[in-house]
Amino acid sequence: MIVTLDGPAGAGKSTAAKALARRLGWRYLDTGAMYRAIAWAALDQRVSLEDESAVADLARALEIRFDAERVLVDGHDVSHAIRTQEVTVATRRVADAPAVRDVMVEQQRRIADGCDIVTEGRDQGTVVFPQAELKVFLTASAEERARRRFRERTACGENVSLETILTSQQARDDADAARPVGAMRAADDAVVVETDGMSHDDVVDALVALVVSRGGETCQ
Ligand code: C5P
Repeated sequence: MIVTLDGPAGAGKSTAAKALARRLGWRYLDTGAMYRAIAWAALDQRVSLEDESAVADLARALEIRFDAERVLVDGHDVSHAIRTQEVTVATRRVADAPAVRDVMVEQQRRIADGCDIVTEGRDQGTVVFPQAELKVFLTASAEERARRRFRERTACGENVSLETILTSQQARDDADAARPVGAMRAADDAVVVETDGMSHDDVVDALVALVVSRGGETCQ
């Protein structure tokens, strides 16, 4: 069975998807990490981000593996390196390239083949797995998402304003929704889960209930 979880940045998709996969005893696929891994490798190998076919060739040649919480590119642990601001900015350009997306879509389908999986991203329900048994679009209001990010970042001692976070989040949402291929949107048959005012446990419980309602079984 395939469960897709799409939605905007800061909606808590990753935490929810990971927790859901754990509760179900299923595989979890972080497709954002795959785009980030390619951007990291392009920067590392000085492949021009302007050169779409070179980046697509790179994507085809790389071996991206997930090992528990770690992301490995050709055996190197890039789990932290792919979360830097430089890589985040480069990732957006990589993810805009249709030739790169074609490679990613094919790899994501191969990874999911024959598995029970929770897969998370922007285009999982719309493009990659239109046949998924359950498609969820997880979202929250812009203010709520920015407040969560503000709490996370200031808790690490960072000096950033809520307004700055809101502005960059809006830019990211707009870019995600405007992408010519693989744009972020809820699939027509997706269940929209709006998480304002819900705790992490409430969100995971709601997702588990949706999976069970579609015939999935939990292992815990
Ligand atoms: O979710 P995360 O922030 O890690 O995603 C990194 C980047 O990859 C974002 O710019 C997002 O728009 C893009 N992405 C994508 N398609 C996916 C997953 C992520 O275009 N399936």
